[in-house]
Formats: sequence, structure tokens, C-alpha cells
Amino acid sequence: MTEKFSIVIPTYNERDNIAPLLEEISNALGDKYTYEVLFIDDNSPDKTSEVINELSSKYPARVIVRTEEKGLSTAVIHGFNNARYDTIVVMDADLQHPPVVIPRLIQAIEDGNEIAVASRYIYGGGCEGWSKFRVLTSKGATLLGHLLLPPSRRVNDIMSGYFAFKKKLLDGIVLKPIGYKILLEILTLCPKAPAKEVPFMFRLRERGESKLKANTYIEYVKHIFSLMIRTGELLRIVKFALVGASGVIVNEGIRKILTTVYGMNSDVWAAPVGIEVSIITNFLLNNFITFKDRKATGASSLGKKLIRYNIFSIVGALIQFGVYMLLTRVAGMNTEPWDTVANLIGIAVAMFWNFFSNSWWTWKE
Ligand code: GDD
Ligand code: MN
Repeated sequence: MTEKFSIVIPTYNERDNIAPLLEEISNALGDKYTYEVLFIDDNSPDKTSEVINELSSKYPARVIVRTEEKGLSTAVIHGFNNARYDTIVVMDADLQHPPVVIPRLIQAIEDGNEIAVASRYIYGGGCEGWSKFRVLTSKGATLLGHLLLPPSRRVNDIMSGYFAFKKKLLDGIVLKPIGYKILLEILTLCPKAPAKEVPFMFRLRERGESKLKANTYIEYVKHIFSLMIRTGELLRIVKFALVGASGVIVNEGIRKILTTVYGMNSDVWAAPVGIEVSIITNFLLNNFITFKDRKATGASSLGKKLIRYNIFSIVGALIQFGVYMLLTRVAGMNTEPWDTVANLIGIAVAMFWNFFSNSWWTWKE
């Protein structure tokens, strides 16, 4: 049986796009599917809703006009709550999202995926007429999301506004998107839901104007931060830092004991042993506390993770040393108190490296 689905489309001043959009959707879907097109319009001054109502005899389309509330993401959520069918497709009204992709999204859902994303960033996808700079900023923002929100890593284009999902995924979940990245919200709050991407070409807008303005990047960063709090990812970074601090105590404690009690030579033996022991205690604490949801249990996977962790720690120490040398020798921070500042910067950069390399590779999932 083929899925029945609701296509949820937020609109604000999209009057001239409605007819061509409904036509393209109808051509793309033919009479093979049972679907509705549900527009959520924020009482557009250009009377978008009138155009929709006129066309509702020709197409399976209806519009809900909101007057109390405004904004893209709440409009989309309003659409989820009022959709007739259990599978939802979200897309824009301005034809930047080509409707021919809908059957491929639905196919992905029928194949057992709970989320299907129309993606600009997999093979076959892209952005029409975007400058290198715009692609770069968009990819940079995507990388930031991937780094800070591990559940988002299973999808390349986390900022896509074109996707399908099963409504039951949201049972018991409260969506609180800041800005308009609803997909990111769903991916992060439903970390176990299988997701698939299908490529698409993000077209240029031909009619009407984009509503999303300069502050979208600030909103995006705020949104990531809010998701980090809600999913415990921020707490994870705090735990990692505390484990790191405990390692400093272990490191120095071992060195002290070996030199004073056992009379070992600090440079040759005591210091390296202190370093290695602290790497191992840090590893164990991180495995069983910081990354306990992705921890290794069996001996072989524990061993593999320990080797990775060890390598990343050594690279981290080299980075720290490199930054310190650069700042003191090249940037001239070699007098007090600047040498201390240089060392602290080195430590911060190394901590950054340690956390993300291990989050990305050691405790990948
Ligand atoms: N109801 C309602 N209320 N709809 C809105 C509002 C609003 O306040 N603001 C925008 N929309 C509708 C527009 O009418 C359009 O259908 C859709 O939301 C997307 O708005 P655009 O202004 O065209 O956004 P964009 O093209 O800059 O951004 C799109 O591409 C991004 C990727 O670069 C969106 O799809 C984003 O979600 C996506 O991340
Ligand atoms: Mn657009």
C-alpha cells in the first residue's frame, strides 16, 4: 500500500507562487497517491489564502490562516498538528524545492525510514546560482551543527527545509525550535529514527521575496545551544572538561610519587609515566561517564577506543605545545604574564581538539 501524506507548506506573501506550485505538485504526483496540500498562511497582506481557496476546487489543497501567531517554524508545527495523514512532507511555497522529489521522499519512507531529507549536500544535489562564499558559509554552519549535536551527523543537509517524516515520531516530544530549522530539531530529538537523504537541486526563487534575513545565523547558533542543553550535549562537554582536570591531578600525583618516593628521574621516567597513567584514567572516566551512552564494554572495543584516545591525546599535547611555541616564539608572548596566557590558549585549543576528535571518532556512536 502506498503512503497517504500531507504536504505542509508555510506561506507568507507567496500569492504568485501558489498556482505554479500546485500545478507542479499535481504533475509530479499524478493520481498515484492520496495526499493533501496544507498551507499555513500568516494572514499574508497579498491575500495568498484567497488564491489557495480559489484553487482548492481544482487541487486537493486547503489553507489555515493564522492571525494570532506568526513565524515560519510555528507555522510548520501548526501544520503538523492539523495534518490529516500520518506521513508529512514539509516544503517551501516558492518553488525552490522542486516537487518532483516528493515521490522519492515518500519511497524512502515506504522503505522503512522514519525521516527522509531532500538534500543539497549529497551526490546529485546542489544549489543553483549560489556563490562559493554562500556555499561555504552554509557548509560551515552545517559542520558546526554536526560537531555540537552528534545525532545530526547521520544527515548531511541538516538545514534543509524540505523533508518527510512519520508523524508518530513526535509522540511525547516537545518541539521548541528557535529560528526555522525544524528538521534539525526533529533529527536531534529523535536520535534513533532511521533517516535517509535523497538529492535535490535547490532552485532560485523566481517570484516574491525571501523572508529569512541577516539574523538567521545568530538564531541558528542559539538554536544549536538550546538543543545542546535539552539533549545533554552541553553537560557532556562539562563532564569532559572535569575529567580532564582530574587527569591533571593524576598526572602530577604520579610524577611526584615516582620522583620523591621511588627516586625516579623525572624527565626520563616519572613524567611520561604520569602522563600515560592520566591518559588511561581519563579514558576510563570518559568511557563510563562522559560517553556512557556510546561506551565500549567488550575488551576488544575498549582496547580500540583506548588506542584512538591515546593517539588523539598525544596529538592534542603536540597541538598544545605547537600553539605555545608559536605564541611565545613568533607572536612575542614570551614575557610574564603573557607566557602564561600563551600556555592557557594552548591548553584551550588542545581541549577543543581532544573533545571533538574523540566525540567524532573514538565514541562515534
Ligand atoms: N506562515 C509563514 N510565516 N510562512 C513563512 C514565514 C512566516 O513568518 N516566513 C517564511 N515563510 C514561508 C515562505 O513563504 C516560504 O514558503 C518558506 O517559508 C521559506 O521561506 P523563504 O523566505 O523562501 O526562505 P529561504 O529560501 O531563505 O530559506 C529556505 O532555504 C533554507 C536553506 O538555505 C528554507 O527552506 C529554509 O528552511 C532552509 O534552511
Ligand atoms: Mn525560499
